[in-house]
Amino acid sequence: MKNTVATFKEAKEKGKKLTMLTAYDYSTAKLVDEAGIDGILVGDSLGMVALGYENTLSVTVDDMVHHIKAVSRGAKNALIVGDMPFLSYHVSIEESIRNAGRLVQEGGCHAVKLEGGLDVLDKVKAIIKAQIPVMGHIGLTPQSVNMLGGFKVQGKSKEQIKRLIDDAKYLEDAGCFSIVLEAVPDEVARIITESVSIPTIGIGAGKYCDGQILVVNDMLGLFSDFTPKFVKRYRSLGEEIKAGIKEYIEDVQNEIFPDEVHSFKINKEVVEEIKK
Ligand code: KIV
Ligand code: NA
Repeated sequence: MKNTVATFKEAKEKGKKLTMLTAYDYSTAKLVDEAGIDGILVGDSLGMVALGYENTLSVTVDDMVHHIKAVSRGAKNALIVGDMPFLSYHVSIEESIRNAGRLVQEGGCHAVKLEGGLDVLDKVKAIIKAQIPVMGHIGLTPQSVNMLGGFKVQGKSKEQIKRLIDDAKYLEDAGCFSIVLEAVPDEVARIITESVSIPTIGIGAGKYCDGQILVVNDMLGLFSDFTPKFVKRYRSLGEEIKAGIKEYIEDVQNEIFPDEVHSFKINKEVVEEIKK
């Protein structure tokens, strides 16, 4: 089934849990899509897991467009959401619309995601007015890492919790079709989920959210520089890949590969002719 922002909203009404994962390239997007995921986020987490940066702050709109293009070609049924990178929606409303537009027009995603609540509401409204669906993202917002003083759980104090609930309502009123809740206590995510009519997608936000998202490289064990507490490892593909590569190295060194099956042949007489 083809997923849209409408099917996301319907899922909440029907009480059907939404599933999302990130993807950054064609092959992974294809696998994730074929497995039956509802939505794919081309997250700016690609800065860390695909480009090797320390955080997401170095990711540019050009980087995002490049990866969204690849994912769009690989996914058939998933709703594709493109992350707006740091500073692409902070300078002005005009720039925000232009950048969101690039992700859709050049990249091919169906919606964009940006971090923040009340602070970015004018940008959210303007992008939606340009007919681009927006997914909100509150709680731990990694683009604010230098302001937050690290990647920490959010929504622990009464003031923080109240602010999160308010932000979620602001984002709903602004017209967001969904909101990511990152690294907030499960009971806080529950209150937020019950106070808005749009689906909440949790990451490190417990079981009461309307859906879940994880970074695909984390859950498959392909990225081990840093693994947050909330990540469940479903596979250890990193180990599997390394084992395969080691076998290849040994085979080449021991002249086991390439063998007859993996070599091209020509008529022996032609070889003899050439040798003459
Ligand atoms: O960039 C990303 O992968 C994200 C998810 C963790 C929500 O924003
Ligand atoms: Na992100």
